[in-house]
Amino acid sequence: MMNTVTTISDLRRRIKAWRQTGETVGLVPTMGALHEGHLSLVRHSRAKTMRTCATLFVNPMQFGLGDDLDAYPRDNAEDALKLENEGADLLFQPVAGEIYPSGFATEVSVRGLGDILEGEFRPGFFTGVATVVTKLLLQTLPDIAVFGEKDYQQLLVIRRLVRDLDIPVRIEAVAIVREADGLAMASRNAYLNTTERKIAPVLYGTISQVAENVGRGASPSEQAEWGTEQLLRGGFASVDYVTVRDAETLDEIADASRPARVLAAATLGRARLIDNVAV
Ligand code: PAF
Repeated sequence: MMNTVTTISDLRRRIKAWRQTGETVGLVPTMGALHEGHLSLVRHSRAKTMRTCATLFVNPMQFGLGDDLDAYPRDNAEDALKLENEGADLLFQPVAGEIYPSGFATEVSVRGLGDILEGEFRPGFFTGVATVVTKLLLQTLPDIAVFGEKDYQQLLVIRRLVRDLDIPVRIEAVAIVREADGLAMASRNAYLNTTERKIAPVLYGTISQVAENVGRGASPSEQAEWGTEQLLRGGFASVDYVTVRDAETLDEIADASRPARVLAAATLGRARLIDNVAV
């Protein structure tokens, strides 16, 4: 049976009890509105560790002014059921005041990696993510923490902060889970209406084609331009970026002689969709 705790002290008490009997712990941080992608993270953690703790916290610090904090899809009861059915042992579901008590004044910022791409279009986003993930890691001190490749830049930012701050945890990545037509599963897909939902897979189709072309020697910058045009022609209202980057540093590249990743962000109706694929 899965237990739910809402305070850091209860969370620590439960984890300490596991540690005392030598059990290993996996952490799966989420903001809820859970789908198959999240559940694949829980499955990964369960396969790798003896105990899995999931967290459900819609982190206000990673939403900017005018972002969808209030509208963000929430269904805590349904989420708890899904986590329990998937075999999670513990759910940490704090209120905002538990994570950010009055007087809270510390930020974790990953310079460089956190300032480009999503960091440029969503100022403060990665500082919000890095701060809350650092806190969750220090609150649970797990053996592993599991994140999806769907938020590829976020994954790299988290790996960087763990290295830089010497947090003793292994960050594990799980591949993107897609709908049958290729659309990457995401909580914000709920914002798409029927027409937009039909257009949405154009994103995956486009970046897959870009990846294939760059893999065959085409110019990354020309392909990025082509990808942007394809998305606009395909029905996306605006494109923040289509870009081919070094898969580890996210530096711009001139060719795919090292592992590379195509990343894209584009808006369709109320939804801003992001996706990425390996070259
Ligand atoms: O990917 C998410 O859902 C969030 O950014 C995370 C990692 C749970 C931090 O709030």
